[in-house]
Amino acid sequence: MHISLDKQVALVTGASSGLGAAAAKGLAEAGAAVVINYNRHGEPAEKLAEDIRQAGGKAIAVGADVSREADVERLFAKVIDTFGALDILLANSGLQKDAATVDMTLADWNAVLEVNLTGQFLCVRAALRQFIQQGPRPWVSRATGKIIHMSSVHQLIPWAGHANYAASKGGVDLLMRSVAQEVGEQHIRVNSIAPGAIRTAINAANTQGDAERKLLELIPYGRIGEAEDVANAVVWLASDASDYVHGTTLFIDGGMSLYPEFRNNG
Ligand code: BGC
Repeated sequence: MHISLDKQVALVTGASSGLGAAAAKGLAEAGAAVVINYNRHGEPAEKLAEDIRQAGGKAIAVGADVSREADVERLFAKVIDTFGALDILLANSGLQKDAATVDMTLADWNAVLEVNLTGQFLCVRAALRQFIQQGPRPWVSRATGKIIHMSSVHQLIPWAGHANYAASKGGVDLLMRSVAQEVGEQHIRVNSIAPGAIRTAINAANTQGDAERKLLELIPYGRIGEAEDVANAVVWLASDASDYVHGTTLFIDGGMSLYPEFRNNG
């Protein structure tokens, strides 16, 4: 199986680091022109765009806060101004503001829901409008557009101390499946990726030493994931190799969602 995203345009939100950056790189390596969205960290986003261009690919970095409607409109206008079309949206921006529920501030609840759930809605709505307006592009893909939501194992696994985050990802699941049900007949493909524990800068404290050993007890496959494990899945889901995959969630978690604490229990 050879995957080419040649002549396709991909927008990755929250792509200045971690999973978003790895996915942007993977999509560019597969031949897509990539728009690297960032919110606060312009420098690494610009550097990633430059690296992709140096390697012979096409990329730009664009700042926008996905939780703000006007920013999202501006971001999508920039995508179309620069590359003329949109084929792939990876709605990846997300954040955590952890606290026990009894102590959680409304500000921290809202901040997480606004980025992780409302931000995905705003980007998906803008992508759908663009896909419908531009119509099919059969010379690049069988689908009229592809949307990939970045979810988490915590769309399924409850997470004490992270109720805002788990609620946002639970919301992403039904957002994704409702939109998939709605737009399938327009040949727009909508899916989610649900990563487990992945070794990224943000997760550094959890993926080293004692914390890593504890985390590994929750991962039947016996290793922490790498950002490339997720990027490979993004490229496949964005390509025609997965053309019949619609409205589903692909767990990239080494089996974390198998409830491994039940191996010798229950
Ligand atoms: C979170 C990580 C966590 C993983 C598994 C992800 O959604 O962002 O911090 O390690 O879930 O619990």
